[in-house]
Amino acid sequence: MVGVDQVLEKLSTVIDPDLKKDIVSMGMIKDLELNDGNLKFTLELTTPACPFNAEIEEDVRKAISQIEGIKNFDMSVTAKVMEGRSLDADMALSTVKNIIAVASGKGGVGKSTVALNLALALSQSGAKIGLLDADIYGPSIPLMLGLQKVALEVEDNKLQPAESHGIKVISFGFFGEQESQAAIYRGPIISGIVKQFLVDANWSNLDYLIVDLPPGTGDIPLTLAQTIPITGILVVTTPQDVASNVAVKAIGMFNKLNVPILGVVENMSYFICPSCNEKHYIFGEGGAKKISEKYNIPFVGEIPLNSGIMEGSDKGKPIILTDPNSPSAEAFRKSAKNVAAQCSILAAKLREEMQAEAAEPAPTS
Ligand SMILES: Nc1ncnc2c1ncn2[C@@H]1O[C@H](COP(=O)(O)OP(=O)(O)OP(=O)(O)O)[C@@H](O)[C@H]1O
Ligand SMILES: [Mg+2]
Repeated sequence: MVGVDQVLEKLSTVIDPDLKKDIVSMGMIKDLELNDGNLKFTLELTTPACPFNAEIEEDVRKAISQIEGIKNFDMSVTAKVMEGRSLDADMALSTVKNIIAVASGKGGVGKSTVALNLALALSQSGAKIGLLDADIYGPSIPLMLGLQKVALEVEDNKLQPAESHGIKVISFGFFGEQESQAAIYRGPIISGIVKQFLVDANWSNLDYLIVDLPPGTGDIPLTLAQTIPITGILVVTTPQDVASNVAVKAIGMFNKLNVPILGVVENMSYFICPSCNEKHYIFGEGGAKKISEKYNIPFVGEIPLNSGIMEGSDKGKPIILTDPNSPSAEAFRKSAKNVAAQCSILAAKLREEMQAEAAEPAPTS
């Protein structure tokens, strides 16, 4: 006689293509009843708007059809949008007005460069800025700021961030951990460390805290994006198809997890020829703009290729400070403004939602 365990085991072979997790461990199977081969349950999808819903439903039907002894099968399909932000009291960071998490589907696209130069550009505009390097496997912010040997102080049980060019900075790289050692840490430990950097540090009053997330669309960046109470994600991509394809995947995941996306920025977009001063779109043109149109995500800017960016980042000299009149620095400033504008839009939307919630009559029971 077929049992519930057998049904669940079979159902756990069905994987949500976006979340890359099986539907049983994601809690999508509800109200399961099995009596004498008559099976009934509800499939609760994570959002009604997911393009994979029909595919998941079909995979479930296929899986059930492969179980011997099921005489009748009745499935209802519903959708409940997942809670994307965890805002428990100690994580609320009430002194930080906005948290912007910088993410990329692919590694090496310039996420840290963008995070750092945005932080500096926002700081130059007069905002109070913090920069948290949450890329535990490959922290590069210390090198980019020339801050390798920093011993952070602790005051009143709070970690004091380092100060550099007017911004507050914390990086795992300050703690002298070797990458090989960091590589043994698993997702939950890393989330724990990053949470500590957020909660147990004295960020004091910040207008924007920029978080450089680890690259990729794996567990760690997704978990962090969900556990940190962020304003929104800034997605960094490059014009190459591989990078934009992975950026699209990342956007799909963040959307599905209900993590707000602030916008997309394209790095290494074009090269300005020093002799003719013309823009050359070496890797193709308009990729990130197309993504922004297709997925209805604000396009916040494009940053040109510039060898000065690379040379400066190895020497702790960010381009926005060393060559403020360069087109790259100009592009970073423009993008930073757009990002700030998008933060305001999201903050206003959030306020509206909270007001609407407060105005709702209390449920009568
Ligand atoms: N617009 C640019 N022009 C020239 N070089 C750039 C540009 N943006 C970034 N770089 C260089 O490309 C390399 C990768 O950049 P960066 O470290 O910021 O990428 P990342 O996405 O953070 O990488 P990782 O995935 O390793 O964290 C660095 O050497 C950086 O200096
Ligand atoms: Mg990086």
